[in-house]
Amino acid sequence: MIVLGMDTSCDDTSAGCINGNNILSNIVLSQVLHSEYGGVIPELAARDHIKQISNIVDRAIDKVGLKNISGIGVTFGPGLTGSLLVGLSFAKSLSYALSIPFYGVNHIEAHIFSLFIEHEIEYPFIALVVSGGHTELIIVEEKGKYKCIGTTLDDAAGEAFDKVSKMLGLSYPGGQIIEEIAKSGIPTAINFPRADVPGYNFSFSGLKTAVLYYLKSQKSEVRSQKSNIAASFQEAVVDSLIAKLIKAATDFKIKRVGIVGGVASNIRLRQKLKNTGIDAYFPNPKLCTDNGVMVAMCANFYLDKCIFSPYNLRVSSSASL
Ligand SMILES: Nc1ncnc2c1ncn2[C@@H]1O[C@H](COP(=O)(O)OP(=O)(O)OP(=O)(O)O)[C@@H](O)[C@H]1O
Ligand SMILES: [Mg+2]
Repeated sequence: MIVLGMDTSCDDTSAGCINGNNILSNIVLSQVLHSEYGGVIPELAARDHIKQISNIVDRAIDKVGLKNISGIGVTFGPGLTGSLLVGLSFAKSLSYALSIPFYGVNHIEAHIFSLFIEHEIEYPFIALVVSGGHTELIIVEEKGKYKCIGTTLDDAAGEAFDKVSKMLGLSYPGGQIIEEIAKSGIPTAINFPRADVPGYNFSFSGLKTAVLYYLKSQKSEVRSQKSNIAASFQEAVVDSLIAKLIKAATDFKIKRVGIVGGVASNIRLRQKLKNTGIDAYFPNPKLCTDNGVMVAMCANFYLDKCIFSPYNLRVSSSASL
């Protein structure tokens, strides 16, 4: 069964087709218009999705052929309301026009499904969703059955990368840029704090503020040594994520973890997890940030069970798993 997936939850207009675990197409257009603001402007994001969605879906189905698609998956939440509306309305119209079912996918669940393209993971496993808007620890009992055990109490990990990038005068989104300049820095150069919050929760706002105060307290020559700041900040984020992963894996006696979302493409995080004794699974870096393929994967699971969404499905900016 060929499934078309679409995601317009934030600032990427994306569509992709799958047949089982085979990726037939994966088209992602990241909106660059937000870079001058250092963060996503919701109204501009929605307007740009409207401009791009038709062209992105056309490209995703180009070689597949519209008549060969048996079902559609689309993100209905969580995300930015205006942006979500564009994808959901488009998917509903296409589903109606082609007389094929559609399924409204939860964006967090879609990120988890990005693991299943390349990996078969024994259940239960622990999923760490680390993206621009989320940092969540979830026990995946099986596909469709989730238990959230921890979340960030303030900023998401990706958001912290983006904000620190802005402080350093670098561009948006910040994750890849910080990772790049951190390569020439010393991770132990500055001892930024690792938040000690209860349970399996996370906190990154104190770390972000510590970077800000550090920058304010230094002379301009030191402030220009961005690589050490970036490397030390990245190390603090990675250490905080790994500490909670190890705690959860130990307490729940589950050794398998899947790390998904934009921050999961971070090489330092991937490297450091190798030495922990945890079996860590990551999606291909191309599938870490938002994409239509992970949405199609998730929709495929439900459509295969004849679970379809009704045409009166609404977007939900704060949909939970
Ligand atoms: N190599 C990297 N290292 C660290 N962070 C990264 C890296 N690559 C991307 N990111 C971060 O990942 C985030 C984008 O990921 P993603 O597209 O999954 O998030 P989102 O869709 O905006 O948020 P959400 O999925 O929570 O709705 C950005 O904050 C970006 O800075
Ligand atoms: Mg995302």
